[in-house]
Amino acid sequence: MTQSPGQGNALDNLLTESRTFPPSDEFAAQANAQPALYEEAKADREAFWAKQAERLHWETKWDQVLDWSGAPFAKWFVGGKLNVAYNCVDRHVESGHGDQVAIHWEGEPGDSRAITYAELQREVSKAANALTSLGIGAEDRVAIYMPMVPEAIFAMLACARVGALHNVVFGGFSAEALRTRIQDSACRLVITTDGQYRRGTPAPLKPAVDEAVADAPSVEKVIVVKRTDTEVAWTGKDVWWHELVDSQSDQHTPEAFDSEHPLFILYTSGTTGKPKGILHTSGGYLTQASYTHQNVFDLKPDTDVYWCTADIGWVTGHSYIVYGPLSNRVTQVVYEGTPNTPHEGRHWEIVQKYGVSIYYTAPTLIRTFMKWGADIPAKYDLSSLRVLGSVGEPINPEAWIWYRENVGGGKTPIVDTWWQTETGAIMISPLPGVISTKPGSAQRPLPGIGAKVVNDEGVEVPAGGGGYLVLDEPWPSMLRGIWGDEERYRDTYWSRFKDQGFYFAGDGAKYDADGDIWLLGRVDDVMNVSGHRISTTEVESALVSHPTVAEAAVVGASDDTTGQGIVAFVILRGGAGADAGGADAIKALRDHVAKEIGPIAKPRQIMVVPELPKTRSGKIMRRLLRDVAENRAVGDVTTLADSSVMDLISAGLQSGKAED
Ligand code: WT7
Repeated sequence: MTQSPGQGNALDNLLTESRTFPPSDEFAAQANAQPALYEEAKADREAFWAKQAERLHWETKWDQVLDWSGAPFAKWFVGGKLNVAYNCVDRHVESGHGDQVAIHWEGEPGDSRAITYAELQREVSKAANALTSLGIGAEDRVAIYMPMVPEAIFAMLACARVGALHNVVFGGFSAEALRTRIQDSACRLVITTDGQYRRGTPAPLKPAVDEAVADAPSVEKVIVVKRTDTEVAWTGKDVWWHELVDSQSDQHTPEAFDSEHPLFILYTSGTTGKPKGILHTSGGYLTQASYTHQNVFDLKPDTDVYWCTADIGWVTGHSYIVYGPLSNRVTQVVYEGTPNTPHEGRHWEIVQKYGVSIYYTAPTLIRTFMKWGADIPAKYDLSSLRVLGSVGEPINPEAWIWYRENVGGGKTPIVDTWWQTETGAIMISPLPGVISTKPGSAQRPLPGIGAKVVNDEGVEVPAGGGGYLVLDEPWPSMLRGIWGDEERYRDTYWSRFKDQGFYFAGDGAKYDADGDIWLLGRVDDVMNVSGHRISTTEVESALVSHPTVAEAAVVGASDDTTGQGIVAFVILRGGAGADAGGADAIKALRDHVAKEIGPIAKPRQIMVVPELPKTRSGKIMRRLLRDVAENRAVGDVTTLADSSVMDLISAGLQSGKAED
């Protein structure tokens, strides 16, 4: 279906999706979040957030909910004091839940460990005592460079407990990436492992730390967890976790810190420039992580088994494995490995084994599952699942439908959650028992959150219009700046709509006829074809809606006639058939896009590729595809998860071309 483009919108609205899925009556009746939550937040936003903060244990209550006088630097729950780790661990033991499993940890080679809240309290206390013994305390920075082992979570909580800031660096990053992140925040301590399992084989990890630390004089000690038994070189700074931590007392009295005490720094690499150290603080962050986790996922701590498949190296792992879930007394699965080790059904095997009821993952993985085929999840009992979630990228409507049908048994609500490292917690998402979900839409700001779609002038676009996503009210878990760079904080997020005082998220978005929000990808990726501003997301979704396509990435390549022409890269579904990449099939795909969203969006060229270039967190790097589409030498590939992918793509270009 086509809508007329232009009319003063910053971005054209091309794709229309009309399927909706209301929650069942049973689900709606039992849901944590009821419709009144919206009313309540609207009636008095600050009172609403104050009520949400009450879900935590405060050693000293705050005297002011929000101080925005220093905008864009917010203070939430001013004067309040709390210990974040106490809130995630000890208070559950004190309320009689010490024997409840907090973490069902599943190692990649098949080893496993069940950790109760009582055990978690002992482990975190020991680790906190170890930090203190090394002289690490409030405001010190600690780098954590580890695979998904339980000690990584103990380490994060131990930092929080003693008021030190953790700086978690994804274990797949290079020594160089680790070094710059350690240096920028002058970390005194690094916590790592000897090695990590990667697709069934142990790979060394500590050599990267040695290399990084050699050039990072701020580091005094390196704590090493033994995971793979890999031989490691030993330096004067190194100490084994099992020697240092295991001998500590398992008793530790947590100290309460100010609500605005810094909790962590997490580096996020923008499209260009050096990574930004996003700073988060304690009380507001934990309040929103906890509130969103309970309401968006409908968590019932006594019966649910929750699984978020993210890595703690990303903000999703911080907010939806560690802080949100544990503050809500979750029982959760933590999995160390990759989804196809040792076979492509590994996730479903784990869901079946633990009776996982809430599953939260990324569109990139859902599309990978589509590529592997629906017969794989079909082999397992997934009937325990009752809520599914998605985060990280726009989810294409067809991938959403596939997820609901093949993972959710055609019945589970799917929450498409929009947020960022900077926002700290979920901002836009349906509430699963209240909202009729729409495949591909994040729909509405959560109660208490203000978000809008505006045009170049900062004026809200009408229903059916497209533009820029902004956040127009401060929120508790908002970033408190970029570490060491106040100017960059102001420039990056607050200068675009300075007069209005809006936070600019960098994403394109549109409203549908009902006023629901659809995310359209990063504004840097928007294509301009004959004066029409077209989002990559909509064309990609049109391609994925064809039965032969599992995944698609589109870019605008310069074009003498139209300014930019649309070039698409597609991965075919498993079982798509031998002809699916042939000239006729390519023509059919181009026609399909024209039919779905209009002739203006018809790709100039479609290339069938075996893989797409992705960052380590699974986001497609369209910049590299633009280089290919414009026949340029491919640019910097250092942030690619797999740098051989670009060679594969170039090799594949011989086939699959279709140009008018
Ligand atoms: C960017 C933030 C938030 C945790 C993981 C990513 C994109 C995220 C969605 C969604 C459409 C999404 C946006 C955003 N994004 N969630 N549900 N629908 N786009 O954190 O690495 O800081 O990335 O991811 O472009 O700005 P991040």
